[in-house]
Amino acid sequence: MDKKNTINHESPGKFQETRFEKIHNLTYSSATKSSKLVANEIAQHIKTTVDRKFVLGLATGSSPIDVYKELVWLHQNDNLSFKNVVTFNLDEYYPISSKEAQSYHHFMRVHLYDHIDIPENQINIPKGDLTSDDIRDYCKMYENKIVSLGGLDYQLLGIGRTAHIGFNEPGSHRNSVTRLVTLDPLTLNDAAKDFNGVEKVPKKAITMGINTIMKAKRIVLLAWGNHKASVVAKTIEGPISEVAPASFLQEHPNVTFILDNEASSDLTRINTPWLVLDCEWTEVLTKKAVFWLCKRVGKSILKLTPRDYSENGLSGLINTYGSVYDLNIWMFNQVQKTITGWPGGKPKYSDENRPERANPSSKRSLIFSPHPVDDIISMGGTISRLIEQGHQVHIAYQTSGSRGVSNEHALRYIEVYLQIEPNQLNFQKLKNEILNTKEGHTDSVALRELKSFIRVSESQESARLLNLPKENVHFLSLPFYENRITKKNNPNKKDLQVISSLIEKIKPHQIFAAGNLGVPHSTQRLCWEILLSSINELKLEPFMKDCWVWMYKGGLENWDLQNIDMAVPMSPSQVNDKISLINKHQSQIDQLLVLEEDNNSILLRTSELNRSIAKEYNFLGMSEYEAIETFKRFYF
Ligand code: F6R
Repeated sequence: MDKKNTINHESPGKFQETRFEKIHNLTYSSATKSSKLVANEIAQHIKTTVDRKFVLGLATGSSPIDVYKELVWLHQNDNLSFKNVVTFNLDEYYPISSKEAQSYHHFMRVHLYDHIDIPENQINIPKGDLTSDDIRDYCKMYENKIVSLGGLDYQLLGIGRTAHIGFNEPGSHRNSVTRLVTLDPLTLNDAAKDFNGVEKVPKKAITMGINTIMKAKRIVLLAWGNHKASVVAKTIEGPISEVAPASFLQEHPNVTFILDNEASSDLTRINTPWLVLDCEWTEVLTKKAVFWLCKRVGKSILKLTPRDYSENGLSGLINTYGSVYDLNIWMFNQVQKTITGWPGGKPKYSDENRPERANPSSKRSLIFSPHPVDDIISMGGTISRLIEQGHQVHIAYQTSGSRGVSNEHALRYIEVYLQIEPNQLNFQKLKNEILNTKEGHTDSVALRELKSFIRVSESQESARLLNLPKENVHFLSLPFYENRITKKNNPNKKDLQVISSLIEKIKPHQIFAAGNLGVPHSTQRLCWEILLSSINELKLEPFMKDCWVWMYKGGLENWDLQNIDMAVPMSPSQVNDKISLINKHQSQIDQLLVLEEDNNSILLRTSELNRSIAKEYNFLGMSEYEAIETFKRFYF
């Protein structure tokens, strides 16, 4: 086997740095490249199994998409045949028809089965449309069928934020087998995007059990993105427990977790490497260690003593920087330099200690927002300042965000209209569609259009409040989002053209964009990737030499302290103004709240987020601000 294309099998916990780890895991910088390794491993297994069928367990969701893409490529270009393969999918929603775009039957067809030569009768996916009387026998049959073929040779897994594998939610027993289960509220919430609202996500699923999975001869679990970091660390380093069903994998003799940098970021050796390794002290790692130390000993930067450093495994850092005094002062200045009330630069002041340039004093600032409202949530205060300080601000909404509007919310508009025009057939039809919606239903084009209009009018309202001229608000409605029912349409040239032509038209000095790089195939990530391709395409244009790119962290998250390059403070009244802006996006405030911890509205969560970073700055020894919005510079 080509060495480059293999996954290396070291046992976990073998080295000093992995001593907390109980599952073999490998981290790669790119989910796409590492998916190729996994696909190659599967292909090798398929090719070397000649005397019997190769029994392959498969997962759905965003994690394995690139593995399937590569398997299809290998089939089309490298003679990989699936004629000798029998597949068993882990799970399917219940109830759902296999024809629905959100069903796992549909997902598997689109991503894999329609493009390879596997015989139809060798494909097994749990049925989502059984009558309840048939479920028990069906599950037994599914389980027996796997056993009769000699068991799973290889099982591909993803992991949910509840630490589920398959749909084995917390509480699943080690001995569980294929069965009907109820989905955890967090899982329902994560699936809401695919179903246009949480209320339409089927509440149950049929899934292989933990025992079914554990009997597989080889298991590979894929996890990408920041949102998986804590569950991955808990699974690899924590105790074995039903509370985290994936932790049962610690007992499997041949399992590998394939992770990207974000998903592995909470592992001890990556999050706090100084506890297990002799570190190379880069600037970012130094900042991270000092902030960690401040929290650990409960002191601000300038109060840290040599003893604080040495007692907490950071003597190596002092050796690198010479003295604790120098290190503390340097750190303090680094943090202070990030703070500015002038996100477009402060005219006539030196640039030395400021994150943005003073010149040109009036800048063209182009703000990209994946969905309407991401811009306001992440940088509403900064947008107000840019406008007040005389910059020419443009906001570009990359997608219509129609999927973020609930049926209940859309119904309000429809009913108002029907009061005025009771016989309007199109609106009657939309009303019927909503009232007769079943779990697993996909919105009609007309309903999606109505939902897009709702979001356009909300964005126009917030733009009015900001005093932003109408012509400076751009609704780009990128085609990939409109054509994409469930994670199957990747962006293409048309998306790129839309973004590039706007940048070329505006010739911005500043671009702000959602740089939440964590979740592959998410709308935010795809929007960022399109922007990145466009920047690459345009970077030699003369106007791009003057263009700085700032990333805000979308998705109701703050940048980690060590990654903040610009921190824009807000006064209490500026926080209130920001809340008024978010309030204009009623469809988002109206979302059904399924999780207890989400019981705070989006408004409260946003201001909490901005307040919490201000508290952290204050704790490090900076001035006390009410709230702060944060940005990281992107260099191209
Ligand atoms: C899917 C499945 C689930 C997913 C998990 C992660 O068949 O069984 O366990 O693997 O929910 O989903 P993604 O990959 O979408 O983050």
